Amino acid sequence: MAKKRALITGITGQDGSYLAELLISKGYDVYGMVRRASVERFDRISHIQDKITLVQGDLTDQSSLDSAVQSTRPDEVYNLAAQSFVPTSWNQPTLTGEVTGLGTTRVLEAVRKIRPEARFYQASSSEMFGKVRDVPQTEQTPFYPRSPYGVAKVYGHYITINYRESYNLFACSGILFNHESPRRGLEFVTRKITNGAAKIKLGLTKELRLGNLDAKRDWGYAGDYVEAMWLMLQQDAPDDFVVATGETHTVKEFVEAAFGCAGLDWEKYVVIDPRFIRPAEVELLIGDPAKAKKKLGWEPRVSFTELVKMMVEGDLKELEKGA
Ligand code: NAP
Ligand code: GDD
Repeated sequence: MAKKRALITGITGQDGSYLAELLISKGYDVYGMVRRASVERFDRISHIQDKITLVQGDLTDQSSLDSAVQSTRPDEVYNLAAQSFVPTSWNQPTLTGEVTGLGTTRVLEAVRKIRPEARFYQASSSEMFGKVRDVPQTEQTPFYPRSPYGVAKVYGHYITINYRESYNLFACSGILFNHESPRRGLEFVTRKITNGAAKIKLGLTKELRLGNLDAKRDWGYAGDYVEAMWLMLQQDAPDDFVVATGETHTVKEFVEAAFGCAGLDWEKYVVIDPRFIRPAEVELLIGDPAKAKKKLGWEPRVSFTELVKMMVEGDLKELEKGA
């Protein structure tokens, strides 16, 4: 049988790198779309670069997306690319709308015109629930986004469903709750904390400045979550799924656990800095993954404690290597 072909937008990101590893292990031909940059930043995929094929493209440029789909002829398209950092979405709201919102339509258009038989995955987000209407949040919970990013993701979610219903595309929206890893971007709170704790432990810095410690998130491990993406595209019919652990923790709990792993008392080092408080906050996220469990047979494997430990150890190792 011919090898399956997958195109991943956002392959240089956290999830793109884990998904590429997963698909390679399943025997796929993996194609990744990357943006042109004056200096290439392929750190997350350098270990698999000889096993994947990169094509250039940008979510703001329709013709590059058409070419990416045309040249790779994918069986599966995973749209993971986005302006994904919530605070930046207040500074760059129209760019976030262009990339994270309209970019989804552009990828869907490329699939519709050139490769309508391809299966499509949209990286939707629990940020869409925002000021939550239900606890826990399910596929039926109404959206109330609290950031330009969340608003753009709601658009991406509904345009995915609309293309499924209008053109009969096999298009799925995965509503993923926060998922982290040692490859998480340094500005996101979990990695900022584990990297900060590791730096303090090694004497490289003296404090860690954070914003709202009371926000609650349902944090899982990115390596587990990319399996759910793949499973969605292996079903008989396209559908939308919440992917979460069903557990929630405050940022403060994450801080305590991370500093604990480094053998430090967090209260001596953490400083609250108003610069990191958001104009509108998502106070509580906790997802109900029952549908994913029942229909996809998906369950998270890595616990909160294991995740924190994995990230602190990863940062300590990386910093010690660089020292
Ligand atoms: P990430 O690490 O920030 O990666 C984002 C990716 O998008 C990078 O590869 C980036 O490329 C690419 N990108 C940004 N703007 C682009 C553009 N204009 N054209 C083409 N590519 C562009 O994000 P992630 O954590 O892996 O998340 C993957 C997806 O899932 C995102 O859509 C995110 O919004 C969504 N999501 C994430 C979570 C989570 O907790 N991680 C939860 C729910 C949903 P460069 O390397 O060139 O910047
Ligand atoms: N980034 C950051 N930096 N967040 C902080 C800080 C800080 O110094 N201090 C407190 N926080 C709080 C934020 O206010 C927020 O409530 C929480 O930590 C998590 O922030 P992030 O890690 O930046 O993630 P997010 O929840 O806003 O967004 C992530 O998850 C979404 C899914 O719910 C991103 O990955 C999004 O792309 C994703 O869709």
